[in-house]
Amino acid sequence: RITPLLAPSLLAADFANLQAETERLAGSAADWLHCDIMDGRFVPNISFGIPVLQAIHRHAQQPLDVHLMIEDPQNYLEAVRDAGAANITVHYEACPHLHRVIQQIKKLGCRAGVALNPHTPVWVLQDIAQDIDLVCVMSVNPGFGGQSFIPHTLQKVAELKELLTDAGSEALIEIDGGVNEQNALPLVEAGADVLVAGSFVFNAPDPVATLAELRAQLLS
Ligand code: DX5
Ligand code: ZN
Repeated sequence: RITPLLAPSLLAADFANLQAETERLAGSAADWLHCDIMDGRFVPNISFGIPVLQAIHRHAQQPLDVHLMIEDPQNYLEAVRDAGAANITVHYEACPHLHRVIQQIKKLGCRAGVALNPHTPVWVLQDIAQDIDLVCVMSVNPGFGGQSFIPHTLQKVAELKELLTDAGSEALIEIDGGVNEQNALPLVEAGADVLVAGSFVFNAPDPVATLAELRAQLLS
């Protein structure tokens, strides 16, 4: 079995201590650091923006996996890359010209991701599957951490896996929302390559140990 990448979401970290929160993940089982940018328009919440992303990048050891929950993401791609993003994920629902946005992200030298809201079927990616590096399947409605995992996501992951394989796409499947020790293994078995986890990691007494336990659970 291929072991998935683990991407703790800093949305659930202590925002008043982002340097310490970022630094303590150095050398942990975290493969990427997931950074959630929200604009209060695409989603009904505001998290943090590009200057904070840049500050996180100064202290991060792992690549930054940036999830843009914003309208008009095309206007911010270069700034997001300059702030240190390795991966830039935009929402399908926010991009009438998704193909162009994907090309722009790749031209900036970043991995290009597309996120799907829970109600968006995977087949909308049919004609772009070969152009993307990552699909972020939202397993909660975007905007807030700490929500419950939507069980139908498991079926969606399996469908997406099939779609990507048929299209000859090597895009990674990332799951975002409500991921915990109970759904991690079924998600990986369904085809998930990257697990994002916010509250499960940061609300634990020891986030680094929790990541290590999750890694061990998926390896055994
Ligand atoms: C939700 C964000 C998620 C969030 C996940 O809108 O995209 O990345 O941090 O948090 P949990 O793991 O608590 O659901
Ligand atoms: Zn996210």
